[in-house]
Amino acid sequence: MSLQGEKTQALFEKGKRVIPYGVNSNFRYWGDEDTIIIDRGEGAYIWDMDGKRYIDYRLGFGPVVLGHAYPTVVQKVQEALQGGNIFAWTTPVEISVAERLTRMCKVDKVRLTNTGTEATMHALRIARAYTGREKFIKFEGQYHGMADYFMFSTPSSYRGGLGSRRSPIALPNTSGIPKAINQYVLPLAFNDFEGLEKTVKANWGDLAAIFVEPILGNSASIMPQPGFLEKIRELCDEFGIVLIFDEVKTGFRIAKGGAQEYFGIQADLATYAKAMGNGFPIAAIAGIEEVMMTIEPGAMAHGGTYSGNVVGAAAADATLEIIENQPVLETINQRGKALMNGIGDILTEAGIPHVVTGVPSMFGIFLGKDQEPRDFRDYLAGDGELYEAISMGLNRRGVQPDSDGREPWFLCYSLSEADVNETLNAFNDSVKDAKS
Ligand SMILES: Cc1ncc(COP(=O)(O)O)c(C=O)c1O
Repeated sequence: MSLQGEKTQALFEKGKRVIPYGVNSNFRYWGDEDTIIIDRGEGAYIWDMDGKRYIDYRLGFGPVVLGHAYPTVVQKVQEALQGGNIFAWTTPVEISVAERLTRMCKVDKVRLTNTGTEATMHALRIARAYTGREKFIKFEGQYHGMADYFMFSTPSSYRGGLGSRRSPIALPNTSGIPKAINQYVLPLAFNDFEGLEKTVKANWGDLAAIFVEPILGNSASIMPQPGFLEKIRELCDEFGIVLIFDEVKTGFRIAKGGAQEYFGIQADLATYAKAMGNGFPIAAIAGIEEVMMTIEPGAMAHGGTYSGNVVGAAAADATLEIIENQPVLETINQRGKALMNGIGDILTEAGIPHVVTGVPSMFGIFLGKDQEPRDFRDYLAGDGELYEAISMGLNRRGVQPDSDGREPWFLCYSLSEADVNETLNAFNDSVKDAKS
């Protein structure tokens, strides 16, 4: 049964005439029958063009940490907009946002951008300029945005061919990437202590950075093994490599100070986006003084016409103020724990081997095995088809996790206990359907 009602289907067909596949990001295309069009969102819910309501666990791929159309944020943005949006000068609200980041994330300096991709791209350039080296390590199943350098061994568009765990292959995940770029990217399996040490020791003279999503926010929220992030930190210190935490998904979601606070590890640079602005386009590169001050007018470029624009900055200022001062993450964690436990119980009852991975504010469901996945390769050995069947059952019932199990379940502050119960009932029914 298609997810599209009559109006949604008609509008999707109209959209396809002028927009490739009817979507403005490939990740939003669920096939011709199940790609929907959204009329509006409020709190934890979204409604499609036929008035069907979903409890939303995608939240725009993670940003909407408070809830859709969150009144305080909307009001602050509206007020700020009355005075114009960009001026090619700094505005007070940019300074306020940077101060919040330095306080919450214990960083020294901040530059604003609009998207996660812009933030990661610039972070890599800073690391290269700081070290005078060109290559970097990234981990399989991690996603750092759409820039050519990062589109290797990512979770999406995976077509096989990662190579041996001992010597992974830099595998572009899209057509259109110049071959020469391969040489700059050294992919590794996550949580592979030995592979990491070997690769760093053999290549450190060329290595500008180690890029890491501290939790695999694009591969079912697989967690770092105890000591793995510490090992990365240690090797970066020993060999003068810039450690970059990509906190685009974890930032302001897993703790007020993101993964740096959660794991007690200070990176040299960190990139933020998503939850920072509750869905408005705003992102940041932040880090320690010495590395951030590599940015230098006329010498090391960072810029962007819309960087720090008033809409994005006002949204971030309002969102971060709420996260700082209200029990946002406590509430989300409470609801998330109830969901993780409830889902685990339902799967156990149904006799389905599983691990509920990650943390309550962004968790994953790994099916088909009951051993915690350590890396993207382990994830691929799970039962993705069963996950998709359950997920589509949920979507038919008005509960919307992503159809792809690599994308975590994201929670927002507006999600109620009643929503959690409704979700668990729908999960129970969807598991029964998927098994029959
Ligand atoms: C960890 C991570 N880094 C970077 C990005 C890119 O962010 P954006 O889509 O805002 O460019 C994403 C997007 O999902 C992400 O999950």
